[in-house]
Amino acid sequence: AAAEESITVVTADKMLDVTKGTLIDHPQITIRNGRITAVERVGAAIPAGAIKIDLAGMTLMPGFIDMHVHLTGDPHYGGYRGLEFTDNFWTVVGVANAKKTLEAGFTTVRNVGSSNYDDVALKQGIEEHQIPGPRIVPATYAIGATGGHCDATEFPPSISVPTPAVANGPEEIRATVRKLRKYGAEVIKFCATGGVFSKTDSVSGQQYSLIEMKALVDESHMLGLRVAVHAHGADGIKDAIRAGADTIEHASLADDEAITLAKQHGTWFSMDIYDDDYILAEGAKNGTFAESLEKERMIGLKQRQNFKAALKAGVKMVFGTDAGIYPHGDNAKQFKTMVDWGMTPVQAIQAATLNAAQALGRTADVGAIEVGRYGDLVAVKGDPLSNVTLLQSLDFVMKGGEIVKETK
Ligand code: ARG
Repeated sequence: AAAEESITVVTADKMLDVTKGTLIDHPQITIRNGRITAVERVGAAIPAGAIKIDLAGMTLMPGFIDMHVHLTGDPHYGGYRGLEFTDNFWTVVGVANAKKTLEAGFTTVRNVGSSNYDDVALKQGIEEHQIPGPRIVPATYAIGATGGHCDATEFPPSISVPTPAVANGPEEIRATVRKLRKYGAEVIKFCATGGVFSKTDSVSGQQYSLIEMKALVDESHMLGLRVAVHAHGADGIKDAIRAGADTIEHASLADDEAITLAKQHGTWFSMDIYDDDYILAEGAKNGTFAESLEKERMIGLKQRQNFKAALKAGVKMVFGTDAGIYPHGDNAKQFKTMVDWGMTPVQAIQAATLNAAQALGRTADVGAIEVGRYGDLVAVKGDPLSNVTLLQSLDFVMKGGEIVKETK
C-alpha cells in the first residue's frame, strides 16, 4: 500500500508575498507531505481528505530564518559562570533553545559555532522527531587563530582546554575545514577579527591574513560549503570579502571601502544590531567580563550607523541575531531595530526569508510561500507591515505542514 498522504489547506486574511513585497488577499495554501503544492486564493478547489486551517484576521508569512544563532549558548552564564557546568549541559541548553526558537517562528536557523558537534546532534534529534526545533544548518566549531576570538582565551597557560578548530596557516586551516565537514558542518564559520565576548583581543584587530582566509574559503567552496565570517574591524571585513567569503557577520566597523567591496563581490552582511540593547542592559547582571562590556560600548552604536550606511549603499542584507548572546525565542526583537535604523518592514522580513534563503543556497526549500518549498508558515493577527513588533508574538507557527503553535 502507498504511504498515507497528509494534506493540509491553510487559509488566511492576507499573505505577504516576499518576492514581490506586497500583500495578497485571502490566500489558500495547500501542503502535501510537508511541501507546498499550491498557492491560490480562497475559493480554489480543496483536495479530498485535507485538514483545513483557517487563520481568520491573520497575515501569513514564510517561516523566518535566523542566519546567526548559537543554540547551545545562554546569556545568563556570562564570564566564568559557564565553568560550573559539565560539557553536555550545553547540549541540554540547546534542546530547550531549539524549541523556543521554533515557537518564535524561526523555522530555519544557521548555527554558527558550538562545541562537541552539538548542533549536528540537535539537527539529528529534530529530524528524527526526538525533539522539536527548527531546520538547522550547522557550522559545528568556529575556526580561528591561536589567541583569537574563536580560541579559548580566558585560561592561564597551565590550564589547557580542547580547541579542535584552532588552526594557523593555510594547510592547517584547510585540514580543519575538511575535518568539520566530515563530522557534519554544512557551512564554515571563522573568526577574521577580535570580538566582544572574548578576553585579551582587540575587537577590531584582524586575526587571519588574507592568504589564510583565501585558503579557508577556497577549501570550503571546493567542498560545496559557504563561509560565514565573524568580523567587526574594517581590515578583517575587507580581506574576508576579498577572499570570497559569503556572509560577513557583525560587520560593525565596515567603512566606505568595505561597503563598496561588499557590493562589488555580492557579499551579504548579517548585522546583529539588536544585541547592544540587551548586552548593555543585562551584561553586568549576567556576569559578562568587564572588558567585554567595554568593547560593546566601543562598537554598539557604530554598528547601527554602519548598518544604515550599508543599507543605503545597497549592500545585500540577511537577518542574523547572534541569539545566545540574548535569550533564544526573542529573535524577532531585531525586526524593530532594523526598521528603526532604516529598513522598511518588508525589507526586514525579506532579510529573514527571501534573502536568507538565497544566502544559504536553499531557495528550493525555505524562505518563501511557493510551490515546492517546505510548508513553513507563520501568521499574526493584524498588519505586521504597519507594526513589526507584532512579529514578537506570533499567533500561528507551522513547520513542514505540522502545527507548532496556534493561539485561538
Ligand atoms: N559574538 C559577538 C562578539 O562577541 C557579539 C557582538 C555583539 N555586539 C553587537 N553590537 N552586535 O563579538
